[in-house]
Amino acid sequence: MVVATVRTLAAFEGQSVELRGWVYSKRSSGKIKFLNLRDGSDTVQCIIVKGVAPDKVFEDFDKLTQESSLTLCGKVRKDARSKVGFEIDVENFEIVHIAEEYPIGPKEHGPDFLLGNRHLWLRSNRPHAVIKIRARFIKAVRDFFDNDGFTLVDAPIFTPAACEGTTTLFETEYFGEKAYLTQSGQLYGEAAAMAFGKIYCFGPTFRAEKSKTRRHLTEFWMVEPEVAFNDLDANMVLAERFLEYTVQSVLKDCRRELEILERKTERLENVKAPFPRISYDEAIQLLKQKNVPCEWGNDFGSPEETALAESFDRPVFVHRFPAAIKAFYMKHDPNNPKVALGVDCLAPEGYGEIIGGGQREESLQILKGRIETHGLPESAFQWYLDLRRYGSVPHAGFGLGIERTVSWICGLEHLREASPFPRMIHRIYP
Ligand code: 4AD
Ligand code: MG
Repeated sequence: MVVATVRTLAAFEGQSVELRGWVYSKRSSGKIKFLNLRDGSDTVQCIIVKGVAPDKVFEDFDKLTQESSLTLCGKVRKDARSKVGFEIDVENFEIVHIAEEYPIGPKEHGPDFLLGNRHLWLRSNRPHAVIKIRARFIKAVRDFFDNDGFTLVDAPIFTPAACEGTTTLFETEYFGEKAYLTQSGQLYGEAAAMAFGKIYCFGPTFRAEKSKTRRHLTEFWMVEPEVAFNDLDANMVLAERFLEYTVQSVLKDCRRELEILERKTERLENVKAPFPRISYDEAIQLLKQKNVPCEWGNDFGSPEETALAESFDRPVFVHRFPAAIKAFYMKHDPNNPKVALGVDCLAPEGYGEIIGGGQREESLQILKGRIETHGLPESAFQWYLDLRRYGSVPHAGFGLGIERTVSWICGLEHLREASPFPRMIHRIYP
């Protein structure tokens, strides 16, 4: 018999198929028994009618516990009330394994309990929908760059130097030398852009974030494009095209998942280029008008970002931040050396910064000075300085945090749910 999945049932209407999965829930009412079967793709209601299915099946039904595994044969019937459009009239099933009492039930569980059981919680329909959306989003990320002439060049995870400041470094011993887990692939991305023109790197990045917030993980995935000859403006054009493509791809293909999450999608439909652009100076004025306390020179935190994003109907770019609060590699604005040619993209609905990037300093002399004033060891950056010795060109790029973006798309309360197995200050299990 043909093996189907719940998501492919439409191709088998009226036919008998085999499904392989687990008991999500079950109930009986007299001569009819209902089994909600989860097969990894979705869940479908399977109906067992006494006299129609063999007696053995009817009896075996009572042995099934939540999450017991089984293979099931039945006829695919169209059903307008079903979320997946079909139900299964069971002809037979075979038990593969009877599950022990399952710790996650329909009742409310606390977040600590659920996170401690993340290896099981992934089976529940909400986490399942989030991880499906994450997977679709990542495919869109890759498709966008692959179709736009970018070459994937991955950056190493063990690194000899800091990219994003020294306060969030994870240090490790590397055969008698000090090494750090990468905070960003950017510096390697810059080397690759000089070799390939347009590149992106994509992988896990690490920050020893000691604060507990809804927006910080210690391990998160970042995609980082870098483009030779791009300036700050071209960087923003790339970022808005990229976000439009990736968000709209998820909206088109993940209707069912967004419905499971009860996510209102009107605001996401709006994610279309061009996005509004405001300078940091304008952002400060806007915050003052809104009576949000702020002072020129300070970085924005979550309250400022939320207030700024509220003024716009789609993601907004904030550019030209005070140079003093930005990383050593950022180019300063030739028209105003107090500000750096950096840009953040803020997501609506309180999700804050999802993209950080900008134009890089291309002058060897200036960059050497910056490494010094930031107290970084020049010896670890010789290779990076070489990029300014041999055919240095203006260039720009950005990094987008996958979990931040997925938690915005999904409307999650905390970005830990956007990671299959999140790592935070007090969590390394499971
Ligand atoms: O703004 P960030 O620190 O920029 C960089 O790392 C640049 N080197 C990227 C580049 O230009 N190639 O980080 C970029 C993004 C943030 O906007 C945010 O989405 C995410 O990475 N991010 C985090 N996500 C989860 N947990 C954390 N602790 C994060 N820190 C940054
Ligand atoms: Mg940033």
